[in-house]
Amino acid sequence: MKDLFERCPELLAETAPPLTAILSALREVRPCELELAASLRPDPGRPYGRRVFLGTPAVEGMLATWTPGASCAPHDHGGSSGGVRVLRGVATHRIYRVIDGALRLIAEERAAAGDVLAFGAGLIHSMGDGGGDASLVTLHLYAGPIPHMVVYDLTRGETLKVDGGCGAWVPDDPAQILGRWAGFVSPCSVLASAPRLGLDGEA
Ligand SMILES: [Fe+2]
Repeated sequence: MKDLFERCPELLAETAPPLTAILSALREVRPCELELAASLRPDPGRPYGRRVFLGTPAVEGMLATWTPGASCAPHDHGGSSGGVRVLRGVATHRIYRVIDGALRLIAEERAAAGDVLAFGAGLIHSMGDGGGDASLVTLHLYAGPIPHMVVYDLTRGETLKVDGGCGAWVPDDPAQILGRWAGFVSPCSVLASAPRLGLDGEA
C-alpha cells in the first residue's frame, strides 16, 4: 500500500509534511488501487483492526477495518495532525474538548465513502461505524512518528497516556499505559504534568 503514495513524493520526503499535503494525498487515493479486500485486517474484539502500512520519520499510514457498529474511544494523536479518508461505509466523527474537567462533545458529523476528514494537532476525537450498508473501512495518515497518544477511558473516568503503537481504545496490556490521570485532562496538560495515579490505577 505504500506504493499508493508514489505520486506524492513530497509527502514521504519531508520531515514534517503540512496538513495540506496529507489531505491532498488522501484525496488522490483511488479505492480500486487498494485491492481492498486483500488489505483488510478485521479485529472483532476491538473497535477496529489496525494495519500500519507506512512508517517513516515523516508519515505514519494505517488502514482501519472497523467492527460493524463499533466506535473507538476519544483520543488525540500525541500532537500530530493528520487526515482520514473513508474508503467504504459511513463514519461518524465526534469532536470533544475538555472543559472544567469534563469531556464535552462539541461537534458530530457523518462522512461517506470518498470523504476526507482533517484533524489538527491536539484535537480530541473519536470515530465509529455509522451504520452504512457496508462496514466501515478508513485510511489514516498522520504527520511524523507518534511516540504516544492520549486515550480517554469513559468507563473509569480516566485519562491515559498510551504508547503510540496502540489503537484508540484502552489497552489490554498494562505495559502500553505510560501514565494515568483521574478524571479528564487535556492533551497539553498530559504533556505538562506528572501522572496523578499509579499505573495500577491507585492514587
Ligand atoms: Fe484519531
